Amino acid sequence: MAIVGPGKMGRAIRDLARADGHEIVAELDIGQVTQAALQGADVAIEFTQPDAAAENLIRLAGWKVPTVCGTTGWYGRLGEIRAAVEKAGTALVYAPNFSVGVQVFLQIARATGEALKARPEFSAHLVETHHKAKKDAPSGTAVAVRDALRSTDPRRDYPITSIREGEVPGTHEVHIEGAGETITLQHVAKDRTIFAQGALVAATWLTERPRRGVFTFDQVLFGGAR
Ligand SMILES: NC(=O)c1ccc[n+]([C@@H]2O[C@H](COP(=O)([O-])OP(=O)(O)OC[C@H]3O[C@@H](n4cnc5c(N)ncnc54)[C@H](OP(=O)(O)O)[C@@H]3O)[C@@H](O)[C@H]2O)c1
Repeated sequence: MAIVGPGKMGRAIRDLARADGHEIVAELDIGQVTQAALQGADVAIEFTQPDAAAENLIRLAGWKVPTVCGTTGWYGRLGEIRAAVEKAGTALVYAPNFSVGVQVFLQIARATGEALKARPEFSAHLVETHHKAKKDAPSGTAVAVRDALRSTDPRRDYPITSIREGEVPGTHEVHIEGAGETITLQHVAKDRTIFAQGALVAATWLTERPRRGVFTFDQVLFGGAR
């Protein structure tokens, strides 16, 4: 494996991958993402920053390195990256959140959106809290939860409030308010290890057999991917 982005997540993934018996052939920082540095890597895991991810993904696709990307905040360039991955005949798995619990949470959010469609007297909003160093807001996960809530009723609005404080790995809440009652859905990431574990599940899935195309983590976990 090659780790692209030796930050908090990159280090957590490296440590877990080594403990699981994987070989880390490279840990690449800014300016070090070259084809030569990726020699011998069956898969790359990219956790960098919003303004760096798209260029890294285009390069990795061009070199036909199957890639897992956990960086958030670059999805405006998804079409361009999909084209690069498909043209090269390689594969990418991306997700704003590689925790299995959040993928379950997204399914709950879809079901909640479906129920709320028939009950306009309820309103809802999201609150996401992350550590102070997080560069993008709202979080990619909050946007995914909002999209899941809106999946059956796109006209409905779900405002997102972002809080940046302390060292919080990631907390996402949906507050649903009715007259005289409140429903709260909450996912709390207690540790970065859960994201690292999910990224390794996706990396292993990419190397099991040749895959082509762009996949989301829920396709890896729950099927729907070839
Ligand atoms: N999908 C998920 O499950 C999940 C979970 C947690 C975090 N994230 C996301 O993952 C990303 C990284 O998070 P983090 O907490 O690890 O951040 P971080 O600690 O700031 O680490 C980012 C690392 O990437 C490096 N980097 C920046 N530009 C690069 C480039 N062009 N090529 C290679 N490396 C580069 C940074 O180097 P410098 O320090 O020198 O700038 C830093 O070492 C963020 O977008 C975050 O939102 C996703």
